[in-house]
Amino acid sequence: MDNFTFLNPTKLIFGKDQLEQLKTEIPPFGKKVLLVYGGGSIKRSGLYEKVINQLNEINATVFELSGVEPNPRVSTVRKGVDICKKENVDFILAVGGGSVIDCTKLIAAASKYDGDAWDIVIKKAFAKEALPFGTVLTLAATGSEMNSGSVITNWETNEKYGWGSPVTFPKFSILDPVNTYTVPRDQTVYGMVDMMSHVLEHYFHLTENTEFQDRMCEGLLKTVMETAPKLLNDLESYEYRATVLYCGTMALNGMLNMGYRGDWATHNLEHAVSAVYDIPHGGGLAIIFPNWMKHNLHVKPSRFKQLAVRVFNVNPDGKTDEEVGLEGIEKLRDFWNSIGAPSRLADYDIDDSKLEIMADRAMANGEFGTFTKLNRDDVLAIYRASL
Ligand code: NZQ
Ligand code: ZN
Repeated sequence: MDNFTFLNPTKLIFGKDQLEQLKTEIPPFGKKVLLVYGGGSIKRSGLYEKVINQLNEINATVFELSGVEPNPRVSTVRKGVDICKKENVDFILAVGGGSVIDCTKLIAAASKYDGDAWDIVIKKAFAKEALPFGTVLTLAATGSEMNSGSVITNWETNEKYGWGSPVTFPKFSILDPVNTYTVPRDQTVYGMVDMMSHVLEHYFHLTENTEFQDRMCEGLLKTVMETAPKLLNDLESYEYRATVLYCGTMALNGMLNMGYRGDWATHNLEHAVSAVYDIPHGGGLAIIFPNWMKHNLHVKPSRFKQLAVRVFNVNPDGKTDEEVGLEGIEKLRDFWNSIGAPSRLADYDIDDSKLEIMADRAMANGEFGTFTKLNRDDVLAIYRASL
């Protein structure tokens, strides 16, 4: 295990009927609130009205930024920054999924920065300060509600990168499983693929003696796999929605990965695809992750074997570690197929015509990955296997 320091300052407020905590959580930060949301799901579900009622009860002056895209764009962030600077906004409230929260994080940081928001994403500038913000999460997937990361797309240049800063943790996040009842089946699937992928990104590392961390990761994977079919048969089950919502947060709030650093190459590969084709993040991961695994099985077969045996119940008797590992990878693919996730880039009508552009984007900061470093040939091989 490596040395580590752990800090996660986000207050997590989980459960039924917790929205009224907005009335106690927001006032210490001020009265001028920017409400950020997406393309309208919160209006259709009635959540928008409930949030506005809470804000009215504390006499907040509310400004709104709506229409945040899935794969949020820096052009939308800039509109939010303009409002914050012009109106001297005190607090930002994100109501939505990972895209709305990620967009809010960059608005919060860029509102305290003199240059353009994109500078922060490309690390030309570091976010030293940010406006305070909180979230009301509506989709179990990214973990953005309890981490400091944000992923932003520049659609003009077809770039999509992650960034983060210690100042971009939400002050609080309200997670009511009921607010996720209306998430459509496909987005529910993408969310579960995404949280499983976060755990898999953690899992592939070369640090020794991570016994407890491994068991936590395996436990989360097994929980999502057991819950997924039940949830997909009963999208308005409080219990199943609650389980998956909690798993999504735990998968990427730093709790599973103390004492080692995960790989994260597959996320970089997927972000490069969705930068060029604007596909759902979880869908892209379902396609690419098993191919990353096959490509790198040789690096440490025992790690793949452990996953296969403990999570996918592969019988190791009489088989090499590589054979067991490969069976586990096939079982992961089968599981994702069984819940309706895509398995080929062709499922999104993506052919080989832009492979080089995707590889350029993935290689923007040079070779990447910590379990093993991927070079351009590796990247192209994994994309080709995913076509
Ligand atoms: O825009 P609205 O109308 O709200 O609809 C959204 C959107 O179309 C809809 N939705 C959300 N909650 C709903 C709902 N529909 C009905 N009922 C509800 N309760 O779902 C669609 C997708 O929403 P989005 O926020 O884009 O999904 P997700 O939470 O999966 O976020 C994806 C983004 O997060 C980034 C991804 O790259 C992608 O840009 N990521 C962020 C991370 C982070 N900050 O830590 C880590 C992740 O690995 C990921 O890269
Ligand atoms: Zn992800």
